[in-house]
Amino acid sequence: MRDIMTDDLLTLKTETDAALAGATDLRAWDAIRVAVLGKNGSLTGLLKELGKAPPDQRRERGAALNQLKDALSTAIEGRRTALENAAMDARLAAERLDPSLPPRPGRTGLIHPISRTMDEMAAIFGAMGFSVAEGPDAEGDWYNFGALNIPAHHPARADHDTFYLPGENGGTPRVLRTHTSPVQTRTMLTQEPPLRIIAPGRTYRADHDATHSPMFHQCEGLVIDRNITLGHLKGCLTDFLRAFFGIGSLPVRFRSSYFPFTEPSMEVDIGWNRKTGELGAGGDWLEILGSGMVHPRVLANCGIDPREWQGFAFGMGVERVTMLKHGIPDLRPFYESDIRWLRHYGFNPLAPVTLHEGI
Ligand code: DAH
Repeated sequence: MRDIMTDDLLTLKTETDAALAGATDLRAWDAIRVAVLGKNGSLTGLLKELGKAPPDQRRERGAALNQLKDALSTAIEGRRTALENAAMDARLAAERLDPSLPPRPGRTGLIHPISRTMDEMAAIFGAMGFSVAEGPDAEGDWYNFGALNIPAHHPARADHDTFYLPGENGGTPRVLRTHTSPVQTRTMLTQEPPLRIIAPGRTYRADHDATHSPMFHQCEGLVIDRNITLGHLKGCLTDFLRAFFGIGSLPVRFRSSYFPFTEPSMEVDIGWNRKTGELGAGGDWLEILGSGMVHPRVLANCGIDPREWQGFAFGMGVERVTMLKHGIPDLRPFYESDIRWLRHYGFNPLAPVTLHEGI
């Protein structure tokens, strides 16, 4: 560099290097950048003067200035990178998280009642040998309806007030699942019987008032084996309801009903007192869930031979049983993230669900 560099240019390089080394933040760095490369910067000034130099000197001076410009630009950019890296290192060190620290008093988060109920369902059914299955919120029409014996134009489709999503790249539209029952479809299609699953999750219907939300939660159940009977259904759901509500003598009633995907179908009611809201007493009945023996056509639709296998299914609203169990009067605050409501109804995350202590 020295050979074509004149003293004034070498001085500018030395001074700029020193200034850059002294710049400890991006603000100081930027001031240097502007002072050298900016519109009125020192290097810019030298480049402007080049035009005035006599032609015989212009060529050599021009080459030297270009060389200097490259060197200065590299030095300036290099310093920027170094400062940014140092700033990031300092931030990483300052914001480091120590997950082994105990929670700060009063700042522990709480488990939402919906999550708590789903954990309790998993614990109770888990003890009966069920595992938890999942499916997507945005479903194919056939999984949500067709496979479950709800053909096009079936009135149950209208009842479900379905949200439709446009298909990707002009493909077939999807439905936001109107119930968790499509997880039955998926489980039967992908797993070999015998099956014993529950499927808690989000569901969607175009419905909004004090007792309905467009997004809510259900828990599905499915049992498929060789000799499953209505007796198993009744025993399983009675045991579940008594464990979940913590009332060993809770009256449970099975009432004949209709669902397209079960035959016979039954609504399940629990005993309560309509006036006081007390569960397990009072002689009134409250509908809790739908259930039935899986329709042979549904088994066949999902690739299971109905002459060899049979089973039962059920579906219940998670919000509904949560409100009943904890005496929560209104559905809407479940989704409003009001910290006062969450503090009141939330559960201690350090005291997870365990069956042996009672649910
Ligand atoms: N899918 C029904 C609903 O959304 C609930 C239901 C009823 C699910 C009976 C079932 C069942 O699996 O067997 O209202």
